[in-house]
Amino acid sequence: MILKDNNDLEQLRHAGKILSDVLKVCAKAVHAGVTTAALDLLAEDMIRAEGAIPSFLNYKPSGAAYPYPAALCISVNDEVVHGIPSEEHVLQDGDMVSLDLGLSYNGYFVDSAVTVFVGAGDAKGQKLMDATREALSAGIAATKVGGYVGDIGAAIEKVAKRKGLSVVEELGGHAVGKHVHEKPFIANFGRPGEGERIPDGMVLALEPIFTEGKKTVSVAEDQWTYITRDGSRAAHFEQTLVVTKSGVEILTPF
Ligand code: MF3
Ligand code: CO
Repeated sequence: MILKDNNDLEQLRHAGKILSDVLKVCAKAVHAGVTTAALDLLAEDMIRAEGAIPSFLNYKPSGAAYPYPAALCISVNDEVVHGIPSEEHVLQDGDMVSLDLGLSYNGYFVDSAVTVFVGAGDAKGQKLMDATREALSAGIAATKVGGYVGDIGAAIEKVAKRKGLSVVEELGGHAVGKHVHEKPFIANFGRPGEGERIPDGMVLALEPIFTEGKKTVSVAEDQWTYITRDGSRAAHFEQTLVVTKSGVEILTPF
């Protein structure tokens, strides 16, 4: 969406605050022995308690086999995105866990994701997580009114290259605000000055997704979960922001 007045901004800020708070609590609840279904329930309950609506639950993009069945996407280790929470999936010490959550408040949609370890994790995995998070910051720093979508993709890709990591090309950021996904798609790679231009007041979700191995992914049997083909782990960080002439405001701070 394109922001049209201060009310839009206030509503989005409120939605973003709820999302940040819920995601923080969910990230803190990541422990060995916890099921991914329990984390999903926690997210959904907190969202509804705030008078908001989980926006991924029952979301069915064109081409999807069936609606997404949960509030929270939980993708563990070689799962890249859109992992479906399950009573059978018990988290283990050392797992790398991506939590991706969207909600709407009064019709205003925001989207955010973080990746955390169960327990202390390992140095190689930490490097992947740090780089993906750094790439999100680099993407945000490259975002400006009148700039190009390619500026953002290039900034994100540059971090992956420098760290020897791979960019998952099928997945990326998008505009947001009035729907779960809005155009344009924002690839996590590209060239400065290419692609669409960013208008004043646009609401965007940037979301670098990197792997520690090859970039190729496939979709699992459940038809939702993306997994790396080589079994390497993936990390995902996402924030929703509003871009105006006065700069970028992050609506979903970590
Ligand atoms: N969070 C994803 C994104 O950022 C969207 C998830 S769609 C769902 O684009 F249906 F899987 F929830
Ligand atoms: Co998103």
